[in-house]
Amino acid sequence: MYRDHTSGELRLADAGKSVRLAGWVQRARKMGGMTFIDVRDRYGITQVVFSNDSNPELAEKAGRLGREFVVEVKGTVRERSSKNPNLPTGEIEVEASELRVLNRSEIPPFTIEDKTDGGDDLRMKYRYLDLRRPSVRSNLELRHRMAFEIRRYLDSQGFLEIETPILVKSTPEGARDFVVPSRMNPGEFYALPQSPQLFKQLLMVSGFDRYFQIAKCFRDEDLRADRQPEFTQIDCEMSFVEQEDVIQMFEGLVKHIFKYVKDIDFSDPFPRITWKDAMERYGSDKPDIRFGMEFADLTDLAKGHGFAVADEAEIVVGIAAPGCASWSRKQTDELTEFVKRPQVGAKGLMWVKFEPDGSIKSSVGKFYTDEQLKAWGERAGAKEGDLLLVMAGPAMKTRKQLCELRLEMGNRLGLRPKDKFAPLWVVDFPLFEWDEETQRYYAMHHPFTAPNPDDVPLLHSDTGNVRATAYDIVVNGTELGGGSIRIHDAELQDTMFELLGFTPERAHEQFGFLMEAFKYGAPPHGGLALGFDRFVSILAGLDTIRDVIAFPKNNSGRDVMNESPSPIDKAQLDELGLEIVKED
Ligand code: AMO
Repeated sequence: MYRDHTSGELRLADAGKSVRLAGWVQRARKMGGMTFIDVRDRYGITQVVFSNDSNPELAEKAGRLGREFVVEVKGTVRERSSKNPNLPTGEIEVEASELRVLNRSEIPPFTIEDKTDGGDDLRMKYRYLDLRRPSVRSNLELRHRMAFEIRRYLDSQGFLEIETPILVKSTPEGARDFVVPSRMNPGEFYALPQSPQLFKQLLMVSGFDRYFQIAKCFRDEDLRADRQPEFTQIDCEMSFVEQEDVIQMFEGLVKHIFKYVKDIDFSDPFPRITWKDAMERYGSDKPDIRFGMEFADLTDLAKGHGFAVADEAEIVVGIAAPGCASWSRKQTDELTEFVKRPQVGAKGLMWVKFEPDGSIKSSVGKFYTDEQLKAWGERAGAKEGDLLLVMAGPAMKTRKQLCELRLEMGNRLGLRPKDKFAPLWVVDFPLFEWDEETQRYYAMHHPFTAPNPDDVPLLHSDTGNVRATAYDIVVNGTELGGGSIRIHDAELQDTMFELLGFTPERAHEQFGFLMEAFKYGAPPHGGLALGFDRFVSILAGLDTIRDVIAFPKNNSGRDVMNESPSPIDKAQLDELGLEIVKED
């Protein structure tokens, strides 16, 4: 036993106790005739003091300790003369009688403190040291607690956790697959699962009626703050359910976790919005509803007044920013620059200021009378003192651009606080998405998503407008999870494949095993998957999911610590029957 107490637990009531601690040297300092060592472990920090007078030899040994040395200390707990109210153990210190150096450490490349001097790259290269920092460690502790509680909750609801394979068949839909060559089957490949989707549907055919899995998923897609190439889902599937049953079940889980982690009660049902409304009111299928600033369609008011930008546009839409009429020219110019950035991609921005004295100033004042602009303001709910921001162009594109601006305004006005949570369901997603480039429909969710029963007659005649029984749960502008009711009828599945441009042969080649299984009594079923990393990072108030993953990849998909991906030996390639073709 190296220790009988942790470095986070000793309090004033322990004064007089003889204790043994083990941990890392956070820092060492000499003051007067004393040497102070802060000993850190997973649980906290305890100050250990060595007195020159009573034990000069030991004090001298302590003085030679460096940062991150691993030590074992024996001593007596005593009340501190100068207390540290910022530390849970700040009322006591341990007066050392023995010191053993368990291991030495090189000088760490950055300070192991919450406010570290290490940049992102350096911290990732030495992630194992980064993980010693209390803030990063507490994210992983939260992750553990959540995983544990989610398992407990789903178990109490009769769900079984069943593991599904990691080496699976590659399917062309969705994101790109990561592939794994098979040595025993030269020229053939497995893929890593983008999700356990097909397996969980097969488990429903097998009669497991309530399945879940905290499952690793892999997608070779462009990375963002809330996307990693490997990530974790709370993946679920249920039999004999309709959309409402699935929504109720997982709203229950999400509410339970909010209560468990944050002590927040959501007594009302989460709001629901159709995909169409979400796009029209927020320009996004994952709206942040912590704040208002909903879109106002100004198309009819703006067109026909000789202003080419509006006249030629498919839509003209605006948002009213409260209290921003006082913004300077510089500030509105900044917003114009913001929407012109390549990431947003707009050509420009119109603004109208409704001054507190009732006067109106506008970047498009040349084309519209005050009366006309007033009508814009009324439509958008702009009051005196507000700033109306307006964009024009093709419908979908312009809405998405205005969505970016709305979120930016939300940030600038402090309307997106991290400790406020606004969950909602987005329902009635379209079943199909048209792709201009390949001139074909794609499944917006996946090819097994059932159409809304009311829209089945439209499948051939009005394909683009068929609604899916698919739903997303969104929190603070992040898609937390998504799911759908699945097709369990072989004929409807055939129609779906046909509309997605699959020949029966290709459908059979890709998904034959599922279609075959469905011939043997597939129950009605549906499910959902929550992004676990996203769930943890939202509750931890973080901007990126990297901070809740022990060993994440960087934005180029690299692990800079172990330097992967990396080339493999020629012998390994030969064994797999692979050859690397160098591109110029
Ligand atoms: P979907 O593709 O919507 O659905 O994924 C479900 C949830 O997983 C999370 N997520 C990610 N998190 C981090 N990095 C990524 N690259 C990433 N991609 C997705 C999101 C998302 O909402 N099989 C279906 C679910 C179903 O229909 O039951 C599926 O995978 O939070």
